[in-house]
Formats: sequence, C-alpha cells, structure tokens
Amino acid sequence: MKAILLAGGMGTRLRPLTAHTPKPIVPIFNRPFLHYQIDLLKKVPDIDEAILSLNYQPNRIAEVLGDGSANGLALRYVVEPEPLGTGGAIKYASTGVTDTVVVFNGDVLTQIDLASVIRLHRERRARATIVLTPVENPMAYGLVETEPDGSVRRFVEKPTADSITTNNINAGVYVLEPDTFDRIPNGVPWSIERAYFPSLVERKETFVAYLYDGYWIDIGAPDKYTQVHRDIMDGTFRAAPFVGASARQQSISPTARVANGATIEGPCFIDEGVVVAKGARIGAYSAIGRDSVIEEGASIDGSILWPNCRVSSEASVIDAVLGRDCQIGRGARIASGTVLGDNSILSDYTRT
Ligand code: GDD
Ligand code: MG
Repeated sequence: MKAILLAGGMGTRLRPLTAHTPKPIVPIFNRPFLHYQIDLLKKVPDIDEAILSLNYQPNRIAEVLGDGSANGLALRYVVEPEPLGTGGAIKYASTGVTDTVVVFNGDVLTQIDLASVIRLHRERRARATIVLTPVENPMAYGLVETEPDGSVRRFVEKPTADSITTNNINAGVYVLEPDTFDRIPNGVPWSIERAYFPSLVERKETFVAYLYDGYWIDIGAPDKYTQVHRDIMDGTFRAAPFVGASARQQSISPTARVANGATIEGPCFIDEGVVVAKGARIGAYSAIGRDSVIEEGASIDGSILWPNCRVSSEASVIDAVLGRDCQIGRGARIASGTVLGDNSILSDYTRT
C-alpha cells in the first residue's frame, strides 16, 4: 500500500521561515517535520512506500529526506511541473497506483491509529474515508457534516462564520480508492476539498467519516508551529526526546556547553554545540538550535531558535521564532509573536 504526502504548498503563512526551508522540512527541535509523519506511517506494516508530492523547493526536501532508507520507509518524489492544487497533485502523484492509497496533508501532526482508519474504510467498502477532528473555530479548515451512520453529508472548505454547523473539520488524512480519481482532470489545478469531496457526496458514493478527537494540529502558521514544540515538551504529544522519564524535562545535548551560573528552566531543548554563557537564562518552553550562542545576561523565553543563532549579552527573546543564523544585538528586546527569517541581523538595543 502506498501513502501520498501532499507537500508541495508554498507555506506562505509560515513565511519568512519557509523562504529557504519548505514547510515539510521545517525543524521540530532537530528533526525535519515530515519525519514525524513518516513515524506514523511506519506503524502500518501494509504501507511500503510514501510518495511525496512536491512543487515548492523539491530539491531541498529530497536532499534532507533522501530515499528513506535511513528512516525505515521507502520514499519516492513526484514533482509537478506547476502547482496542481491538492486534487491535481494527488492525481499526478498516483499515476500507476491502482491499490487503495492513504493520503496525508504534509503539515498535520497527529497520533491517529491509521490502521483502524484503513480497517473502517475496508469494512464499509468505502470509495473514500476521511478523518475528522473537532476544533474550536472551523473557519481556517474544511468543515464536514456527517449523517448518523457516519457517512459524509456535506463538505465546506473554509466556511464563513454564518455557515458553521459543526466543529468537525477535515483533518487532512484520507483513505481513497484510485479509481475515483477519474473525475480529476489531468494537468490543471484542482482541489480535493472544493471539488472531489463535494462530488462524492453529490454522486452518493460511499464516503465515510472517521471521527478522531486525540492530538491533532496543522503546523502551517507560526503560533501552531510554536505550539507543537510546547506540546512535545510538556508530553501532550509524545515524541523523542521528551518521552518516558524525560517528559517535561530539560533536554540538553552532551555537546552543549552550559556555564555554571547560567539558569536553565525546564522543560526546554538545547541542541548540540550550543553555548550558554554565565548569567544567561533559558526559560521554559524554549528550543535552542544547534551551535547557537546565548551570551552573558541574555534571556530566552518560550522561543524557538533555529541553528547557529547568536543572542548577544543582555538581550531578551520572548515567545518568538528565529530562523537560521540570526544575530540579535546587545540589549535588544524581541517581543512576543516576532518571527525572524534566516540571517536576520538586529542591531544593539533594537525593540520589536
Ligand atoms: N503537491 C502539492 N501541490 N501540494 C500542495 C499544493 C499543490 O498545488 N497545494 C497545497 N499542497 C499541500 C500543502 O503543502 C499542504 O501540506 C497540504 O497540501 C494542504 O495545504 P494547506 O495550504 O496547508 O491547506 P490548509 O491547511 O489551508 O487546508 C487543508 O488542510 C486542513 C487541515 O489542516 C484542507 O485540506 C482543509 O480542508 C483541512 O481542514
Ligand atoms: Mg495546512
């Protein structure tokens, strides 16, 4: 069985982070995001290959993920000549696939039991099965109404406030029969959400919903990207290195150099080669990327720093995300919600 990972979007809401790092490989701590999805796929023995449907910066993604052998699931890359939208991308990536496929939006993190979704799909002899999850505000997602028997009644992508009839949304995880793709035209942009799903309903095909209310998040916006780190650090989503006895703890690489007289408040993540000077403070829910330097008296709180950043003395960084190679000048104050692109240089005493 094949899985198709839709990983071709431009990641506009995560800019500037995605200017040089496409969303599927933004780091979560020190691992590219898609590794977490691959971990989930690996739990289903039937899945023997993941096809990555790419468009934006495909070579960067292929360079980082390779052929999958290091991670235990074969990966294949399919690059669209131009963005084909979610539906067109699935059609293009599934060329030659005749067996049932699992499809994932390449930006969702979840602990769903995929095998049981596949089981439901088979039991109901469904043409398509979609995972739904409840959220507070469905407006940023695809709203899905269901019938009492668990089949899909209506699919409304990005509903307006006055059309919200349920909190259940499309979780971006599907099990699909490839012979239903015949309605998707070749080579033109086409949306699985706005056209394919409504068409299944219209034609009264067996379209089944699987309701899941466990951990689920779309990492596609900076607040959610930060939230994922917090959820892993506090054990809400269980992933290395915050598992077992290490949950909610400080995770400090043996190669990091933390001076006596630095203050570290857990949970936090300090990667290889990081230097934390005396009098510096790393507050809870911070993740400091490889080889970054936190100088004397600097203070980091609830922030994610990508590799090789320097936070100069007496500067403070609060609830922010810093891309690779950022330099924060002495005494600067980086305020909550700031997102800096790679190579940003902020001069001494800057305030954001
Ligand atoms: N290959 C390819 N080509 N991939 C694409 C394209 C494309 O043209 N456009 C988008 N994608 C990929 C993105 O990279 C992402 O992984 C996935 O498709 C979904 O696109 P998003 O842009 O993240 O969509 P969204 O988050 O606004 O909405 C979607 O996800 C929600 C759940 O997170 C929809 O599927 C909603 O219905 C759903 O609720
Ligand atoms: Mg998304």
